[in-house]
Parts: sequence; C-alpha cells; structure tokens
Amino acid sequence: MSLHISAKPGEIAETVLISGDPLRARNIAETMLTEVICYNQVRGMLGFTGFYKGKRVSVQGTGMGIPSTAIYVHEFMHSYNVKKIIRVGTCGAIQPELELGQLIIAEAAYTDSATHQLYFPDPASAAPAPGRLLEQAITLAQQLQIPIISGPVFTSDLFYSEAADRWDNWIKKGVLAVEMETSILYALAAYNQIEALSILSVSDNIITEKLTTAQEREHASSEMMRLALELA
Ligand code: HPA
Repeated sequence: MSLHISAKPGEIAETVLISGDPLRARNIAETMLTEVICYNQVRGMLGFTGFYKGKRVSVQGTGMGIPSTAIYVHEFMHSYNVKKIIRVGTCGAIQPELELGQLIIAEAAYTDSATHQLYFPDPASAAPAPGRLLEQAITLAQQLQIPIISGPVFTSDLFYSEAADRWDNWIKKGVLAVEMETSILYALAAYNQIEALSILSVSDNIITEKLTTAQEREHASSEMMRLALELA
C-alpha cells in the first residue's frame, strides 16, 4: 500500500493507463477489460486491473494537473514497480487546422510549471517521451488505421488563462495542443528510467473556439483507448 493507493502488492500491472478523470478509468475497465478488480477508491481516484486480449493491464484516475499526477506516477514507480505508463486524456488544440476528436501523440512536452522545472530546469526545452512507446504507437496506429498526429504539446498549470498572448510563443514553436499532465509524466518516467507516453484527443480548439459534443468525445476516446490498450 502507498499513501494514495490502497492496492495490495501484486494487484497493479506493470503497465498502467492513466486518465485525469477517474470515471474514464472506470469506463475503460468496464468496457475494454475482462476479469476486472477495483484496487483503489482512495479519494475517489478509482484504479482497476484486468486483462486486454490476455495482457494484464491497470487503469487509474489521477485527477487534473501536474501535482496530482505526480503523486500517482511516483507511487506507481516506487511502491508498485510499474514499468510503463500511458496517459489517455484530452487536450485543447492551439493550431487552427486541428479538428476536434483528432488524436495527438505527444512526442515531447514543454511547460512553464515550476514543479516540472525541479526536474527539467530549462523551460525552453521540451521533455521527450521516454522509451520506445512513441515509436511503437506511431507504427501501431498505422497498422490499426487509427489517424494520429505526433508532435509537441504544452503542459500548463492553468486551464483558464487571463492573458490573451498566453499561447503565442508555443503556437510559433509549432506546439500542437495544451493539456495539464504530460510534462511531469515524462520527467518522472525519464528520471526513474521507465517508459511513458501521452495519447490525447482534441476536446476543444482554443484558437477556433470549437468544442466537442459528448458523442464526438466518446468516439475519439474509444479509438484512443484501443490504441493505448494495443500498445500496453
Ligand atoms: N486547456 C488545458 N487543458 C485542457 C484543455 C485546454 O483547453 N482541453 C483539455 N485539456
């Protein structure tokens, strides 16, 4: 057991899918996995282990943002010997041509978060996806004919920004989208020499101000879950 996860030793698989939303974690477990056990309900951050096509995999809600994500990623690595973490989440596109529902594979994550900078002190450089999952996901998406775009994302501590020019620098750098967790996942995974990847679905376009409907989110997320589980 760890402070935020009540799983007994061995109840968590070597590969974990993480989602900010614990109900998405439950939905993945209920719709895609077999022989499911719920190993965690502490703070409502549901965690499940089951099997996908014979492979043992866990899926865990982490809450939103860098500090909350860092807690679960740390406890997975240090208390449960987790070796691969795949984030399945949503993002806000900052390039106008990116359509809602588009899947993005985060090659690397920029951030201006002070927490992240305890690990990567240079805000001008992006934390790359550690390990081989990135390469494998790109190949797998081609094989499964799941359309994806890979590129850098920006991990923000703020969902809402009052500053009109908040994204200008990152748009110019070619950053595809904004979300709130990937940079710390990549930093902590690299530090502990495990593999990690974020697969994100565009839920809104910050530039065009388009928003997905619940149905569009549902469809995008089923392809995202399939890609993540095939990769696991
Ligand atoms: N901003 C930050 N994080 C997000 C967004 C956004 O617009 N959409 C989904 N996650």
